[in-house]
Amino acid sequence: MTHPLFGAAYYPEHWNSERWPIDARLMQQAGINMVRMAEFAWSRLEPEEGLFDFAWLDKAIEILMAHGIQVILGTPTAAPPAWLIAGHPEILPVNEDGQRAGFGMRRHYCPTQPVFHTATRRIVEAMARHYQQHPAVFAWQIDNELGNIANGARCHCSSCRTAFQAWLKQRYGSLERLNSVWGTVFWSQEYSAWEQIPVPMRNVRPASAGSAYNPSLYLDFTRFTSDSWVQYQQLQVQILHDLCPQHRITHNLMGLFPYVDYVKLAQDLDVVSWDNYPRLPAPWSAFKGNWSPSHVAMSHDLMRGLKGRTFWVMEQQAGPSGWGRISPTPLPGEIRLWTLQSVARGAEAIIYFRWRTCTVGTEQYWHGILPHEGTPGRRYEEICQTGEELQRLGALVGADLPAEVAILRSYDAIWAFEAQPTAEGLAYDDQIGRYYRALWGRNVAVDLITEDGPWEPYKVLVAPCLFVLRKEVSTRLHAWVEAGGTLVLTFRSGVKDEYNRVVDQPLPGALRDLAGVQVIDYTALLPAGTGAPCGGPESLELVIDGTSHNVGADVWMDDLQVNDAEVLGTYRGGPFDGAPAVTLKRLGAGRVIYVGTSLDDGGQALLMGKVLEVAGVSAGVPSPDNVEIVRRVHEGIDYWFVLNHNPVAHEIRLPSGGIELLTGRTVTETVIVNGFDALVVCSQPGI
Ligand code: GAL
Ligand code: ZN
Repeated sequence: MTHPLFGAAYYPEHWNSERWPIDARLMQQAGINMVRMAEFAWSRLEPEEGLFDFAWLDKAIEILMAHGIQVILGTPTAAPPAWLIAGHPEILPVNEDGQRAGFGMRRHYCPTQPVFHTATRRIVEAMARHYQQHPAVFAWQIDNELGNIANGARCHCSSCRTAFQAWLKQRYGSLERLNSVWGTVFWSQEYSAWEQIPVPMRNVRPASAGSAYNPSLYLDFTRFTSDSWVQYQQLQVQILHDLCPQHRITHNLMGLFPYVDYVKLAQDLDVVSWDNYPRLPAPWSAFKGNWSPSHVAMSHDLMRGLKGRTFWVMEQQAGPSGWGRISPTPLPGEIRLWTLQSVARGAEAIIYFRWRTCTVGTEQYWHGILPHEGTPGRRYEEICQTGEELQRLGALVGADLPAEVAILRSYDAIWAFEAQPTAEGLAYDDQIGRYYRALWGRNVAVDLITEDGPWEPYKVLVAPCLFVLRKEVSTRLHAWVEAGGTLVLTFRSGVKDEYNRVVDQPLPGALRDLAGVQVIDYTALLPAGTGAPCGGPESLELVIDGTSHNVGADVWMDDLQVNDAEVLGTYRGGPFDGAPAVTLKRLGAGRVIYVGTSLDDGGQALLMGKVLEVAGVSAGVPSPDNVEIVRRVHEGIDYWFVLNHNPVAHEIRLPSGGIELLTGRTVTETVIVNGFDALVVCSQPGI
């Protein structure tokens, strides 16, 4: 690919057809070459069961094509029409309170309902047959944001319950084995028939306290529901592969969205895409509303790792967002900056959400490139400029993003912590984010992988809170460290086996020898200000290269006994005053750092500096706070994306000067980047 796909989500069905040629002309003027369409248009494409109408869509596509624009067609299954639901109300999903959703939103379907599968096949096959030879169709987006269901995270209907029981039968073979592995003797939960096994409903306890169901049952249920989305997607992938083999197939994922195993979901796709709203922390975000560019960067890095090290942004924020309330608007320059951040981190396509702000429906306040009245304004101008600039990046769009560091993010850990959050302040993605931020702040490239991803290529692997640990994972970790890897482990690691049972060994369980420490006691730390004993933050002394630093600790403290490691940090005060908090063990050609607590940002930065140094990882280019630098490499040449997320200008020193690709000017190694501005420097040593 020599330049990014560039476009917007377009809904011709929301407007009078006289407007369509005007839209197409404005799009062409903005450099748009791709639009995504139809992902919610089921009622217009199949107004009655088996009666299809593609005429309107054909006409809209024809107008777009005449303006040099291709399309990504969405299968419309995220919006089952009223006639379908009226005939088959069992399609509606059931939430964890046992309530069936009503009609009137979207994503109101259960992914395991056979009648919904039939309806899905009918519409997807009809669309695929109609568009299989169409010259303007470039790709398909399956459904929209799978798993993001209307009335809760998962479906609990009787179809799902039966499917869950079958899934368990497949996994365990016999009830005897299931009973033994799940420990159902506890509270007389032994099952004598598969049909007795429940799906976990909401408990009386507050949601933040997790689930009081058997943790083994709960983890299996989360795995099952994730699989049911993967299977539902497969149903559509198969149809599209068979009927439209020349088209690419994608689905729009949601970054850190925790309810679907994206590694599995991505396997069946040709390319991964995702929806990026930097100004709006996702509702499931563990970042507690703290919007930050490092959070967005981490989501990009996660998506990049899923499939072929490239991805598309299927929805890139193009204005203030909101359903009931409107978010602060992107300031001048921010839409362009966020776009360049996406491209810097590997995006090969930028599709803005949405072309024009709708005057009807739930998303009246979700602003697109054009305002409600449809006249181009500031956002349109900024997007025109951005589109033009992206053309200048050429082959760089597919360039490498070499990383020597990986962070391990495990779906089993996400789901086991969902059942048992363990400590008031403990949010798994927040822990991942703290390590990510320390690396991001140094402009060190990071890949995010799971326990099944290959970590062999990396010099450093950071595995925060590796709560659920399969045996073969600990064996692989041992071998990798001995061969020279640097592994960072933390508190709450090796606690559970793959069935979500607590291990009957001192913690960190099977990682004990590897870490050279064992946990002899622990405490959760309550958030500051609760007045309780063990109300964090506590402090500890980190000694890095002979210099002592006092840093903060919160969330949790392990009291460590050191068996075979060097002490880097010691608690000062608190219940484990004087005990080791951070250790380093050398093993074979590698080393393991164990962190018994959650460090504040300062502590984290110091520690990661040390980790990178001992692992021999090349230092990132230093930059002021919130100035992000990403190194891409193409044919042996370094390209530096410099992204200033601050409103004020900063001076940066790059390893060399070169040509700034967006403006074509020559820059020296010391360069000023304005507030919310970005540079892309093609390095030419000697300038
Ligand atoms: C996304 C979704 C879009 C639109 C947008 C704004 O999550 O895929 O269809 O709803 O959010 O709410
Ligand atoms: Zn269901």
